[in-house]
Amino acid sequence: MADTRSSIHGQWSSRWAFILAATGSAVGLGNIWRFPYLAGENGGGAFVLVYLFFVFVVGIPIMMAEILIGRRGRQSPINTMRTLAEEEGLGRYWSLLGWMGVFAGFIILSYYSVIAGWTIAYIFRTGTGMFDNVNAELSASIFSNLISDPEKLLVWHTTFMMMTILVVARGVKSGLEKAVRFLMPALFFLLLLMVGYAMSTEKFMDGLSYLFIPDFVALAKKDLFADVFLPALGQAFFSLSLGMGAIMVYGSYLSNKSSIASTSISIALADTSVAILAGIAIFPIVFTYGIEPSGGPGLIFISLPIAFGQMPYGTVFGCLFFLLLAFAAWTSAISLLEPAVTWLVENRNINRIKATGIAGMIAWTLGVVTVLSFNHWAFSFTFAGSLKENGLFDMMDILTSNIMLPLGGLLVAIFASWLMSRKSTIDELGMGDGIIYRLWLFAVRYIAPLGVIMIFLNAIGLFKLLGLSN
Ligand code: PFF
Repeated sequence: MADTRSSIHGQWSSRWAFILAATGSAVGLGNIWRFPYLAGENGGGAFVLVYLFFVFVVGIPIMMAEILIGRRGRQSPINTMRTLAEEEGLGRYWSLLGWMGVFAGFIILSYYSVIAGWTIAYIFRTGTGMFDNVNAELSASIFSNLISDPEKLLVWHTTFMMMTILVVARGVKSGLEKAVRFLMPALFFLLLLMVGYAMSTEKFMDGLSYLFIPDFVALAKKDLFADVFLPALGQAFFSLSLGMGAIMVYGSYLSNKSSIASTSISIALADTSVAILAGIAIFPIVFTYGIEPSGGPGLIFISLPIAFGQMPYGTVFGCLFFLLLAFAAWTSAISLLEPAVTWLVENRNINRIKATGIAGMIAWTLGVVTVLSFNHWAFSFTFAGSLKENGLFDMMDILTSNIMLPLGGLLVAIFASWLMSRKSTIDELGMGDGIIYRLWLFAVRYIAPLGVIMIFLNAIGLFKLLGLSN
């Protein structure tokens, strides 16, 4: 039965280790690279407020649901879903939810690795003083030199993917647990330092108000659902690593004694503070140096180096910052690969090393699409009113974050709240059926599914077609 089941892949050494690993998964490029540029593209303050709302009202309850499902099944997300569905007397096709997660994981990892590659490239670029006293124009041209060169991108993408494969192949416990313990606090400290620098810039208050005060005039011109709600929802899932089995698989290594609720809250709080700090560090610099906030994926790579080029010891701090960002991306990438690897080990009867090699190669190959999206294959298109200039990369990003992850999260919520028996969820969450349990149940039963469905429907304009919205 559930309480005697154990994972063949191992177990975290403590609850703390799980928190670190899950926070390592959550905190990554999503917080420091993706969050600021999405906020910049989608209207600043309004986006940020909606994002925060989704993290707390939809994200945390779904995270609890994913962890509880993972811990109860103690297998790869695909097999966990199949086993639990059978136990609850449901069809085997629930394993498709696990499959969707594995696919989403491959796609996300494929482009994640390319962007993480930029981060590695920037460790060297900042470290060699390339940005000393540069202006916005020069910084932008250093960035476009990098992304217009597929060979360079491929080298860094390959480097990063190999780093990821290496850790996953060794098993999660030995390398990962130790690394995050030191790296997460260091990254936090460096972000604080950047915030300190941002405070000294002329446009600090402009940056803050851009980030926290919704601009209603700009909002009136937007389609609220497609331009603000959908990307904010997608970002909440992306940033918390939800909807694709990453947190589920990490939950499968968690001991039965640990509290799922408080753990989820800690992870979400840490993740959100890193994103907000990144925003506070970046936007004042963006405004001070006249950079376009809606500039897209290059935003931090263009804005931050200018600041490093100006500040005392900027070479050291710049180098350190991108180094830590690369580490943060590393601890996230690992969790993107893990669900596929566990399935290969369980179902294909191969060892972890081989499984990681195969899964890593698939993701690496797919990454070539992203490498070429920024140069040879580049094309632009408009999505929900904003111009997307990086063709297939943007498409993969939108497909996974805005569609697959929220859909995965929606199904997790429905499974845990409507289909699993009350007894199973009470038993697994281990906090009785008091107020917190009931709040959770209400959130995953009603709020999360309705929220996701409404946003989907609105974003695809179905309501407009039916004449239900203006
Ligand atoms: N949460 C990671 C980030 O914010 O960078 C990215 C990520 C990791 C997304 C794992 C999804 C996932 F399953």
